[in-house]
Amino acid sequence: MEVVIVPDARAGGELIAGALAALLRRKPDALLGVATGSTPLPIYEALAAQVRAGAVDASRARICQLDEYVGLPAGHPESYRSVVLREVVRPLGLGEDSFMGPEGSAEDVQAACEAYDRALREAGGVDLQLLGIGTDGHIGFNEPCSSLASRTRIKTLTRQTRADNARFFDSLDEVPHHVITQGIGTILEARHLVLLATGEGKADAVARAVEGPVAALVPASALQLHPHATVVVDEAAAAGLK
Ligand code: F6R
Repeated sequence: MEVVIVPDARAGGELIAGALAALLRRKPDALLGVATGSTPLPIYEALAAQVRAGAVDASRARICQLDEYVGLPAGHPESYRSVVLREVVRPLGLGEDSFMGPEGSAEDVQAACEAYDRALREAGGVDLQLLGIGTDGHIGFNEPCSSLASRTRIKTLTRQTRADNARFFDSLDEVPHHVITQGIGTILEARHLVLLATGEGKADAVARAVEGPVAALVPASALQLHPHATVVVDEAAAAGLK
């Protein structure tokens, strides 16, 4: 695992956008796995700026989601489908046909999870998967004690994660209790994993993921098992590293 410490979130965003641009130059139809939440926004802004400036052609890029709330209608502004369309797909000038994600409003959620794993495989696998990290060490929404071999499935959010995500909704009550998330085993199949963590609130989770033992209690520690994992942290999120 490679750990890169950058001065701030903006620098992290630019560094990772540079890696995405390099990948798209090498493989124009690369499948990019994107995360939602606040942390990756500087990446998406920096990449969109490169596209607007003509420095990279993203017109053949394919985008796939890491996770999705269960029970929010697809058009809800905080469904991850809406967020990814708003923050990634449209700013890159792509159409909805270049984008795939799990169907959070499916009647048969189990079948939707299996279908998503299958779709990722049939698309040739994820070339680069962006990840954030929860304050409890989750990746995707694989909360502590998720199996390191898990596949895409429904998960219950912890009280902590619902509270962390309440800022995107009008009240805590509106935050869904369930999500579909790529499993840790699914995530580990991507060719390159890039995790960005910024701010002091992530320092403890980063230290446990990077320097602690590989353990289901800290899902992000599974990155230690991957042959090509890059962890980009700002000074504040690096504070707990030895
Ligand atoms: C979101 C996701 C989550 C977030 C994590 C950090 O798609 O998979 O693992 O990356 O909860 O969220 P932020 O970046 O908002 O602190």
